[in-house]
Amino acid sequence: EKGGYRHFMLKEIYEQPRAVADTIAGRLKDDEGDVYLEDLGLEAEELGRIRRIFIIACGTSWHAGLVGKFYIEKLARVPVEVDIASEFRYRDPIIGEGDLAVLISQSGETADTLAALREARAKGGKAVSICNVVDSSIARESDGVIYTHAGPEIGVASTKAFTTQLVALYLLALRLGRVRGTLSAEDCRRQVAELLSLPRKIETALELDSAIEEIARTFVSARDFLYLGRGNQYPIALEGALKLKEISYIHAEGYPAGEMKHGPIALIDENLPVVVLAPRNETYEKVVSNMEEVRARGGRVIAVATRADESLRRSCDALVELPETTDDLMPVLTSIPMQLIAYHVAVLKGTDVDQPRNLAKSVTVE
Ligand code: F6R
Repeated sequence: EKGGYRHFMLKEIYEQPRAVADTIAGRLKDDEGDVYLEDLGLEAEELGRIRRIFIIACGTSWHAGLVGKFYIEKLARVPVEVDIASEFRYRDPIIGEGDLAVLISQSGETADTLAALREARAKGGKAVSICNVVDSSIARESDGVIYTHAGPEIGVASTKAFTTQLVALYLLALRLGRVRGTLSAEDCRRQVAELLSLPRKIETALELDSAIEEIARTFVSARDFLYLGRGNQYPIALEGALKLKEISYIHAEGYPAGEMKHGPIALIDENLPVVVLAPRNETYEKVVSNMEEVRARGGRVIAVATRADESLRRSCDALVELPETTDDLMPVLTSIPMQLIAYHVAVLKGTDVDQPRNLAKSVTVE
């Protein structure tokens, strides 16, 4: 059942090229430069009238939501709030007519996310969900659903569910952008072409596996890790830290790179490895200078980059170099080394990777 892999988690990490291809399959209308979401449940006219979007989820799915905010605000120009389900449901949220809740849940059974869905609908909002498990409670109770089609996820630590959630959110943002006139057919076509090249690029990222295992070996004895990212890479820093905590039991924190000076820099010394997400984008230079600050304080840097230049190479102790894609889709690729670092550190520590202590795959109680 593990298909020759040592753990379900590793199998699921390696399934991502196929899983992402399945999330996209049958949903592109290339001739029209649009995206087709078969069970979205909302007509174009309804999508056009949305004033605000609330993305609501827990854990890893919430991290996907944080990236989704970038997608929807950029492509469809609708304001988006991202909420943790257990926080949303208890604060008498201001949501109603004209608002859309987007619930994200791999299992479709998470108690807090289900309660948030009911709260949003009871107040007059529409609700669509992004689920992996077909016909799950959250999928059934929503006005519409986008299934991720990742296939069963057995490992407790979410991997392929996360990257397919990112892709589903991107498809939703493209659709909203087309309906609302903020995205041209031609621009949509260009983004779709990039989406189609993702599975191959994920495969290339997976080829870094043994190099990442070596990096894990170097840093396995650390007691704490810091993960830094900016913009749409900040949620990936959070996700990298969560993966490491969950399966290796090493304390880890994700932080926006620009916030480092406002506190966490005090932690830096040679015992704190810092994973820095530094793909080429608008803030590349700023992130590299954050790396230099870490190094100046004796910190050790693991850089995750694309087209690393001299200054980046000089400022890191280990480098993971990924293929390039658009800034929007880069979080899918940077997720791969986040998963593999956590996986290899956990295996080296001898923890139960697929069934980490105290965790359940589906959290159906509060
Ligand atoms: C992390 C993880 C959890 C889940 C969270 C939400 O690896 O598995 O943080 O992401 O419990 O679960 P779903 O997506 O099923 O609602």
